[in-house]
Amino acid sequence: MHRVEQLHDLRAQVAGWRASGERVAFVPTMGNLHAGHLTLVREARLHAARVVASIFVNPLQFGPGEDLDAYPRTLDEDSRQLAEAGCDLVFAPSARVVYPRGQAEQTRVEVPGLSDILCGASRPGHFVGVATVVCKLFNMVQPHVALFGEKDFQQLLVIRRLVEDLAMPVEILGVPTVREADGLAMSSRNGYLSSVERSQAPALYRALTSAAQALHAGCVIAEVEQAALSQIADAGLRPDYFTVRVAGDLSPATPDDADLIVLAAAYLGRARLIDNLRVMRG
Ligand code: PAJ
Repeated sequence: MHRVEQLHDLRAQVAGWRASGERVAFVPTMGNLHAGHLTLVREARLHAARVVASIFVNPLQFGPGEDLDAYPRTLDEDSRQLAEAGCDLVFAPSARVVYPRGQAEQTRVEVPGLSDILCGASRPGHFVGVATVVCKLFNMVQPHVALFGEKDFQQLLVIRRLVEDLAMPVEILGVPTVREADGLAMSSRNGYLSSVERSQAPALYRALTSAAQALHAGCVIAEVEQAALSQIADAGLRPDYFTVRVAGDLSPATPDDADLIVLAAAYLGRARLIDNLRVMRG
């Protein structure tokens, strides 16, 4: 497996593969990899002859006072794990390679509506940063297919929308959330949790599964949301939101909607945890 930092090295490698007719899959990450990321890489192998992963902690998607400086950077260990998972090429650019003129002068990609709700409301500018860097990484890597985790469900929808709106020639695949044994969704930010917080954290997933059961049983949506918020707060987390939405576009769910997604975010110590669960009602 090669690791490259410069755009021309990336382009030369991928152009060679494309010229010989090989399909290229792409898995963008911010590094500090765990089994969730590696599942995306292994899944990518099933869809293409070549797999490219990127590791770039994107400053544009962090707000003031967020954890940009603290975000764990573990490039050598990440590269080792990527090679083992079957990745062919790691693109690990510096901020100068991604934003040569600095991020203030960077052209932005904005997906209105979808970007402004839920995590976008709590983290203003976050999804503009994500959409911009993903669009840019797609143009740099030029993959046939790109894989994203359903753990970041709103991010996945933002990316699907931007690809559709900008007619980008890349197929987007979502991959189910990989969890710890106690249900906690794997995340690089789980490393911020103390051992006491780590034992509290699975309450978020438990609240999602209780809500899913209640929705299947036909309970009123607003009551399900309220009960879950109390359940999360009682476990010692500070809920940001807990909401039942239509899975296709994140609009508020009505009793008639069948394909639902329950989305939750909560603060715990230094971490902001997010998770979600899909609910299909017959
Ligand atoms: P990062 O948080 O490193 O996640 C990279 C990819 O791994 C994303 O598609 C994310 O949804 C997926 N992922 C994370 N945890 C997962 C889990 N437990 N199960 C399944 N997939 C999981 O998301 C980002 O980076 C950035 O916003 C990025 C898209 C790279 C743009 O900077």
